[in-house]
Amino acid sequence: ILLSKAKFTISAPDIRRLPADSGIEVAFAGRSNAGKSSALNTLTKQKSLARTSKTPGRTQLINVFEIAENKRLVDLPGYGFAKVPLEMKKKWQKALGEYLQKRESLKGLVVLMDIRHPLKDLDMDLIQWAADSDLPVLALLTKADKLSQGKRSAEVLKVKKVLAPLNADIKVQAFSSLKRTGADQAEALICNWFAQ
Ligand code: GTP
Ligand code: MG
Repeated sequence: ILLSKAKFTISAPDIRRLPADSGIEVAFAGRSNAGKSSALNTLTKQKSLARTSKTPGRTQLINVFEIAENKRLVDLPGYGFAKVPLEMKKKWQKALGEYLQKRESLKGLVVLMDIRHPLKDLDMDLIQWAADSDLPVLALLTKADKLSQGKRSAEVLKVKKVLAPLNADIKVQAFSSLKRTGADQAEALICNWFAQ
């Protein structure tokens, strides 16, 4: 499977509008501005497949990209951003929650966290939920280019240590969309999920 084959399929405001729930989906989740859309572009080697922005809360819909028949990448709305109208927040958090709980084809979750401040409460809630649901997780520590090599390794170790007691299928990888750090490792893991 080649992630570079990704093609935009649909932007859905809720799960009813998604493609049929069959095959395999790998979803990208994380706080607003964590770098989900950028990571998708890096991993698919397409500069503007998913829309990125300096303004948190850019991705408000569930965006689906098909990479092969019945194999899809999904860019989920970010969570944890305070500065959006409550009604909007409620709506897209509902879409996120419904997607995570109901989507049968969801087979792997990429959780993106800024390497400078990973494992916030909502990140932990999401990872704990995935662990309880036997859903494999790839924790990508994004914007690794913002830290020195030493600090980067220290953060990866710290995150691994916190997540180890969950005893779940969780991989941790430093990642930079800017420098492509960790991109090959992440791609290999994701392709593995699609190969199941
Ligand atoms: P929402 O859709 O709002 O939830 O955000 P997102 O998680 O999709 O983040 P997005 O990919 O739009 O990136 C947010 C900001 O972080 C943008 O200004 C990106 O240019 C920047 N960014 C993303 N990845 C990296 C990275 O690896 N390194 C650096 N230095 N900046 C990055
Ligand atoms: Mg986005």
